[in-house]
Amino acid sequence: MVLTNHTSRTSHNDLRQEFTILSLSVSLSLSLSLSLSLSLPLSLSLSLSLSLSLSLSRSQGGGGDEVLVNMEAGMSIALGLALLGLVLILAVTIVRPLRALLDQRRWQRHLRALAARPAGQRFALITGGTDGIGFHLARHCASQGLDLYLTGRTSADCAAAAQQLKQLAPDVVIKTFAGDLSQRAVQDQLFVHLEDLALQNVQVAILNVGLSTSVPKPLSEHTEVEADAILAINARLSLQLARRLSVAWARTAGPRTKAVPRRVLILVASLAGVTGAPFCAVYGATKAFLLHLGASLRYELSTVAEVLVNAPGMIRAGNTMRWFSASRLAAPDVLTAEAAARGILCWVGTEAYPTTTSVLHWLTLKLLTALPTTLATALVGQQHQAVIQRLTTPPPS
Ligand SMILES: NC(=O)c1ccc[n+]([C@@H]2O[C@H](COP(=O)([O-])OP(=O)(O)OC[C@H]3O[C@@H](n4cnc5c(N)ncnc54)[C@H](OP(=O)(O)O)[C@@H]3O)[C@@H](O)[C@H]2O)c1
Repeated sequence: MVLTNHTSRTSHNDLRQEFTILSLSVSLSLSLSLSLSLSLPLSLSLSLSLSLSLSLSRSQGGGGDEVLVNMEAGMSIALGLALLGLVLILAVTIVRPLRALLDQRRWQRHLRALAARPAGQRFALITGGTDGIGFHLARHCASQGLDLYLTGRTSADCAAAAQQLKQLAPDVVIKTFAGDLSQRAVQDQLFVHLEDLALQNVQVAILNVGLSTSVPKPLSEHTEVEADAILAINARLSLQLARRLSVAWARTAGPRTKAVPRRVLILVASLAGVTGAPFCAVYGATKAFLLHLGASLRYELSTVAEVLVNAPGMIRAGNTMRWFSASRLAAPDVLTAEAAARGILCWVGTEAYPTTTSVLHWLTLKLLTALPTTLATALVGQQHQAVIQRLTTPPPS
């Protein structure tokens, strides 16, 4: 009798010990793998297998029934904790962009502080700042008191944008550069112009200009000129501007204080760069280049500038707008260019990487990074294929 009581107390204690070890192992392996940015499925399977193997190894000394009981207990505890982990991850996933998107005052304060520099030393350089998202980025920077240096394709576009911005912010100095930046010679002219401005006077640089094909299509249908132009604007131009800015900023770096906020460099990438982008292969690859470049510069330039990389989803601007209106496909997550500009600027001061333009785009970003690459790429490919199909099918009469 005494012996029986002792045994049941021992197995009760064993179960409690097991529970503690299981909880610890699941939460530890989950948080470790997630903090190492392992994908969600990998994190979950890691924590499940760890807890199961612990459960089995602890029960090896007991009989067959005990192993089964322990396995069942281990399984349900591990599943319960994994579910709890999922809910927590989802909550954290949504809370972060919500906080950034709702707190529109933080980035405005930051830009105003940068605009408090003496005249001539408070420029926002925005490539592709005469239309689409870039124009609204320029509008926001001007309304916080930053002078503007904008690039556009034609002089007429530059003049029209400058006139509109002057009406909004009459005191702001606006300089423009017009030219087809897919041409290497024109890029070189821009670099010469920027030397006159002196890049140390740039407090905010938004490398926004980007080129894609007018419709999604396979690589085999890209002409050499077309592919080179996308590469030149999206990758080479942004790289050479970032290089020049990092030289100028490092030369004028002062002590970092609360009163003098760091400069801001924003690279505008795309969700198409997060995973494979079938039928937009060149565009997607150049945007992946920007995501990678930004990740390195965040570290390299951390003492002189905050480097953010934004991967917008679909925006009513540029080619995306043309694709979707022409293909008549419903796209519930398409944002206006104005909302996209706010979705890019709201991350200033958060140190987040990578960022995107809305809560829906954030969930897409998280899904694309959590899924296995093959599956994520297939999802993007199917969407682009649907656009191509709609574009090539005549509308019903
Ligand atoms: N729209 C989207 O759905 C979407 C989604 C993800 C990422 N993005 C990225 O966000 C950025 C802005 O996109 P957006 O749709 O707002 O762009 P957009 O409307 O196509 O272009 C806006 C600006 O780029 C200039 N530009 C275009 N081609 C040029 C060239 N060859 N040389 C010099 N300037 C040129 C335009 O100048 P002009 O006014 O003189 O023509 C204008 O200032 C791009 O990097 C794009 O890849 C966009």
